[in-house]
Amino acid sequence: MEDQTYNMPRIGDMAPDFESMTTTGKIRFSEYIKDSWTILFSHPADFTPVCTTEMSGFALEKDFFAGRQTKLIGLSIDSIHAHIAWVNNVKKNTGVLFEFPIIADIDMSVSKKYGMLQPGESETAAVRAVFFIDPKGKIRLIMYYPLNVGRNMDEIKRALVALQTADEHKVSMPLDWREGDQVIVSPPKTVAEMLDREASDYEMVDFYLAKRSL
Ligand code: BEZ
Repeated sequence: MEDQTYNMPRIGDMAPDFESMTTTGKIRFSEYIKDSWTILFSHPADFTPVCTTEMSGFALEKDFFAGRQTKLIGLSIDSIHAHIAWVNNVKKNTGVLFEFPIIADIDMSVSKKYGMLQPGESETAAVRAVFFIDPKGKIRLIMYYPLNVGRNMDEIKRALVALQTADEHKVSMPLDWREGDQVIVSPPKTVAEMLDREASDYEMVDFYLAKRSL
C-alpha cells in the first residue's frame, strides 16, 4: 500500500475527510466543515508553552471567527484524556477555555493525511499547520510553521478576511493588504476591456495593475 506518511495536501484540493474523536465528541470532518469556512490547525503537543499561547490565541478570537462564519478545529497527536487535562489546566491557570474541538490524533492518521508530520522536524509531533477551508470543502490557503516558532494570529485573521473578500468581490489582494485597503481588479481579457479600463476611475499603474476601493 502507498505510504501516506508524507502526503502534502495542496491549495485547491478538497479537504481530505476523516472521522475522529475530539474534545467535543466524535466528528466526521466533511460534516463539520459543511457550508462554513473552517480553520484546521495542528500543534505539536499538549502542555507545551508555545502551543498554549497559540491555542489561547484562537480561543480569545472566538467572536472574530464566529463573525466571519468560520469554525475552528485544533489537532495534536495526543489522547483525548491529555487534551481534556490540558483544557482544564489552561482554564484554571488563565481563565481561557478552548471551546472549539481538538482532535485526538493518537494514531496520526489525520496528521498524515494533512502533511502535518514532517519527519525532518519531528517523527512523532505534528508541525504547526493551518488549513483554510472554504464552504465547499476546498483548501484555499496553507501555512506550515516549525515546532519552535509560534504563528501570527494577526496574519491568520488577515488571510481569512483577504480570502473571503477576494471571493465576494472577485478581486485580488496586493502585498500587505488589510481590510479597508484598495484591492486589485483582474486584468482585462480583451482590448475592448483594456480601453474601458483607461476610461475608468481605477487607480492605475498600467492596464494590468489597477486598484479600486470596495
Ligand atoms: C511548545 O509548544 O512550546 C513546543 C512544542 C514542541 C516543541 C517545541 C516547543
